[in-house]
Amino acid sequence: MYHMSLWQKKRSMVITGAKGIPSFLKAEVLSLGFPILSEGIAHIETEGTMEDATKLNLLIRTGHRVLYLIKTFHARNPDELYRMVSSIEWEEYIPKGEYLCVTSSVDTPTIMDSRFANLRCKDAIADRMKKKLGYRPDSGPERNRVVVHLYWKGEACLIYLDTSGEPLSKRGYRKIPLKAPMQETLAAAVILATGWKGEGNLVNPMCGSGTLAIEAALIALNRAPGLLRSNYAFMHLKGFNELLWKTLRKRAKAVVKDSLNGKIIATDISREACEAARKNAMTAGVEHWIDFGVCDYSETPMPEGGGIIILNPEYGGRLGEIEKLKKVYKGMGDFFKKKCQGYKGYLFTGNFDLAKQVGLKTKRRIPFFNSNIECRLLEYDLYEGSRKRKA
Ligand SMILES: C[S@@+](CC[C@H](N)C(=O)[O-])C[C@H]1O[C@@H](n2cnc3c(N)ncnc32)[C@H](O)[C@@H]1O
Repeated sequence: MYHMSLWQKKRSMVITGAKGIPSFLKAEVLSLGFPILSEGIAHIETEGTMEDATKLNLLIRTGHRVLYLIKTFHARNPDELYRMVSSIEWEEYIPKGEYLCVTSSVDTPTIMDSRFANLRCKDAIADRMKKKLGYRPDSGPERNRVVVHLYWKGEACLIYLDTSGEPLSKRGYRKIPLKAPMQETLAAAVILATGWKGEGNLVNPMCGSGTLAIEAALIALNRAPGLLRSNYAFMHLKGFNELLWKTLRKRAKAVVKDSLNGKIIATDISREACEAARKNAMTAGVEHWIDFGVCDYSETPMPEGGGIIILNPEYGGRLGEIEKLKKVYKGMGDFFKKKCQGYKGYLFTGNFDLAKQVGLKTKRRIPFFNSNIECRLLEYDLYEGSRKRKA
């Protein structure tokens, strides 16, 4: 049965992201024509139908999960939660034979372990389906089919359908992640923060697994990140409109650009990293837009015409590493000054002491979080040198 109210009823939707991401998420959501109802440190709230949620899953670059609200109520303890969750018409949402996963964010005095809240919620759904339809859905931790999200703070409970399932940061192209890769959604936000959209060159030495260069190529080509993925939780809900999904994909493909006004260059000192980056770019379908090379960052070719150069070095943990990295960071300052005139320089790091070694004045310091590490994207205007040289 096609569940009209689910697919076409406008409801509150929450899009989650990494800490520090909401300003980018907000800009993306507004540019797609959706309102911003509220925002928090790691989410924004908008509104729309399940069909809109489908679209957001396809197009959003910086969000992790699109949650569609189906019920709000008050519950003081797990029994009240069970009763209220049982009153939801789950048989209208979950098809026969589907697998169910319940996730949660719980901060309420009667629950010490959020897994217990998940279990009560899952039992309420399964018992309801057994009573109404005579079967229980299989359930477990896999987020690749139907996913229900419980948000419970104090007495306020909000029940969402998580329309994404696996987080949207899992685009599907990073088959070889290597050491300390940047999350795809974070890399997209970093590129959006630079304002680069394909005009001029983008040079990314120390490319590691290639995430920044790949996300830059996807942005510059106007390629929807969701085109790379074939499975989303919304596809497993009752009434999933496959024709709508195909139409949305077709429209997204129709606006992909077929030329760029600059080069994308990605290099790394490690041959293994460079090969991994190339393979990841191949999976993402952008390898022919990126020039890969194995070299020290300071030997990376800087094409004429300017653009942006972006470095994401290691931040270091142990003392010996820090001493070595001090030299690397200092060298990056010299490299910026001597070889990158006419470019805007960017350094993404979680170590602010090391960043001081660069020795250049920062124009902007944009806060981000990489997992739980507070980071900065530091912007250096390197035009000054070129003007002086010309003079
Ligand atoms: C933190 S990782 C970059 C991660 C990358 N942003 C990603 O998403 O996978 C730092 C990279 O710098 C490279 N690297 C370290 N020293 C280098 C140097 N002197 N020249 C070029 N690359 C270097 C390492 O091989 C490593 O791949």
